[in-house]
Amino acid sequence: MSDETRTAGEKGRSEAAGPLLLEMRGVSKIYETGQVQVRALDGVSLALQGGELVVALGPSGSGKTTLLNLVGGLDRPTAGTIRYGDTDIASLSDGDLGRFRRDHIGFVFQFFNLIPTLTARENVEFAAELVSHDSRQMEERVEELLRLVGLEERADHFPSQLSGGEQQRVAIARAMAKDPNILLCDEPTGNLDFRTGQQILGLLQKLTGEQGKTCVLVTHNTAIAGVGTRIVRLRDGRVQSDERSANPLPASEVEW
Ligand SMILES: Nc1ncnc2c1ncn2[C@@H]1O[C@H](COP(=O)(O)OP(=O)(O)O)[C@@H](O)[C@H]1O
Ligand SMILES: [Mg+2]
Repeated sequence: MSDETRTAGEKGRSEAAGPLLLEMRGVSKIYETGQVQVRALDGVSLALQGGELVVALGPSGSGKTTLLNLVGGLDRPTAGTIRYGDTDIASLSDGDLGRFRRDHIGFVFQFFNLIPTLTARENVEFAAELVSHDSRQMEERVEELLRLVGLEERADHFPSQLSGGEQQRVAIARAMAKDPNILLCDEPTGNLDFRTGQQILGLLQKLTGEQGKTCVLVTHNTAIAGVGTRIVRLRDGRVQSDERSANPLPASEVEW
């Protein structure tokens, strides 16, 4: 393919990262509330590849959460396409969009959103049960995930008995329960001190670097940007810059 016939997204694709996973083209999102229209995203084109840790950086109101909600099929764009494999997920029925989300996307939120009446293990099991039909296999998967996030010894504790960082690790194990290709993290360290945040960022580096998951981490915190294999800067609903990093910062060196 000559350079001229490639699209902007294809030109920007990195040989080092894995296969193309999801591609947004010309995506806009307008929220209408009463008489007021808010253009939360304005012509965003972005291709995600396997194994990338994409840090989407932008101030409050720049469209970060809107971007995650569209990639994760929680909402639909006003214009543009979002291709996952052969499907434009924006055109799926509600049921199919729900299945796409269930099978391929893991979400991690700023305030953890664990179920307070379930233990750490039960929170992860609850998510695993939605996708697994073999209870023995499911139990093994849950234990493996608790080990992965280093919480096997706290598995029987309730969220209220865990620190913020530990709760976020449970939330990551829960998001991984269905073995999703894409992990979407909305300000995952926003409620944590930097030492605890380092563990969370290290875990995301491990999941992308070693397990080939694709992670989009959105944050307003510029100190975090360096941990990504790619930094996408958002402003007023637009991509201001999109840069790959050959040498991501080890999570243990991030401070804020
Ligand atoms: N459901 C909604 N209804 C109306 N406006 C919204 C809604 N969600 C977000 N917005 C607006 O869209 C813009 C982008 O919001 P958001 O994606 O939440 O930004 P960020 O996550 O970067 O803070 C903001 O101006 C916000 O007020
Ligand atoms: Mg937000």
